[in-house]
Amino acid sequence: MRERDEDPDGWYRFSKEKLLYLDAIKQLAEFVGSEPSNLVFVENASTGTNTALNSIRFQTGDKILFTSHGYAAVAKNVANLRKRAGITEVCLDLKLPIRSEDDIISQFERVISENEGIKVALIDHITCPSAILMPLKSLIDLCHRNGILVIVDGAHAPGHIPLNLEELSADFYTGNIHKWLFSPRGCALFWVHPNHHDSVSPLVVSRNHERKTLVERFIPDATRDSSAYLVVPDALRFHKSLGGLDVILRRNRDSLRGVAKLLAESWNSEVYPLADHLRAPNMALVAMPSIFQELFEPSDANCTKMMEWLHGKNVFVCFSSVSGKIWARLSMQVWNCFEDYLKVRDAVHEMKEEVPYIIEEGKFSFELKQSKL
Ligand SMILES: Cc1ncc(COP(=O)(O)O)c(C=O)c1O
Repeated sequence: MRERDEDPDGWYRFSKEKLLYLDAIKQLAEFVGSEPSNLVFVENASTGTNTALNSIRFQTGDKILFTSHGYAAVAKNVANLRKRAGITEVCLDLKLPIRSEDDIISQFERVISENEGIKVALIDHITCPSAILMPLKSLIDLCHRNGILVIVDGAHAPGHIPLNLEELSADFYTGNIHKWLFSPRGCALFWVHPNHHDSVSPLVVSRNHERKTLVERFIPDATRDSSAYLVVPDALRFHKSLGGLDVILRRNRDSLRGVAKLLAESWNSEVYPLADHLRAPNMALVAMPSIFQELFEPSDANCTKMMEWLHGKNVFVCFSSVSGKIWARLSMQVWNCFEDYLKVRDAVHEMKEEVPYIIEEGKFSFELKQSKL
């Protein structure tokens, strides 16, 4: 940021940064269907979720609802609140089959009716381990009918699926710009319903803390590098130059579905069973070959070790453990080509061959299923 460094006083003291921030918010707001006054930047979705939770006054015994398909840090947030504020957690173990939206909504209805006193629900828009595109509007409405506040973790949503944040009308919505919308890392949106503007402030209390409007409070004031926020208009322009959301979505979705099927056939396994319209367009899960399911506990630790093993072979794919199995979670962005997924296919076959030796050597110390010890 040459402009900033050539004139740091103008930048920090005399509003240059602020004007660029406001312009970035305005352009992003248009893209995600938001009023500019309801939208601010935070560094990442984790900060967004934490900021939302931090603004809520919990009382001992309040309950927080989340799901077994939520991002792992959510459970840590909730555990932290249990310690700090005495809240109780309600984890909905989201079960297959999911053949329709109703299969998800009815599970939420049941858990809400069985647990009085749920104050907040934390819902992934696109679930982290399973890439389910949640029926978000229906879930928000269901929670609101039951007096439950909704924080949406849309980490994977901006730039991936169409968004209209005003129409969704959650209480809080956070989503990364640095995942699917091409900004540099350290950039996420945080949408706040006007009902909550007065109670929300950045996690770091600084000079803008008592400003009147939400946006004014979130304009960076402590000295920092905000370039990831300020280049959002460029990220939006780049997204548009590739054809925009519809074109990117269709290209990724159609190619990825073919690729997922091909890998499932090659590994003699299955694609995560879901109704088609509940699949996130740019992501797909394929079950790992049976030897992995038979030997390995479907644990996060094993997934991490498998990723590390593949990374050592110069191939990366995300593994996730959900619904009792280990899955390769494939993602597709415009720069990915068919050959990338053939590399994943072959690397997994190679790993399959080597697994018995890796276990014998004790390398990676995988968590083995009890019957295999
Ligand atoms: C649903 C969900 N929430 C939050 C995150 C974390 O995002 P960040 O590291 O940008 O906070 C992820 C990361 O993959 C995610 O999938």
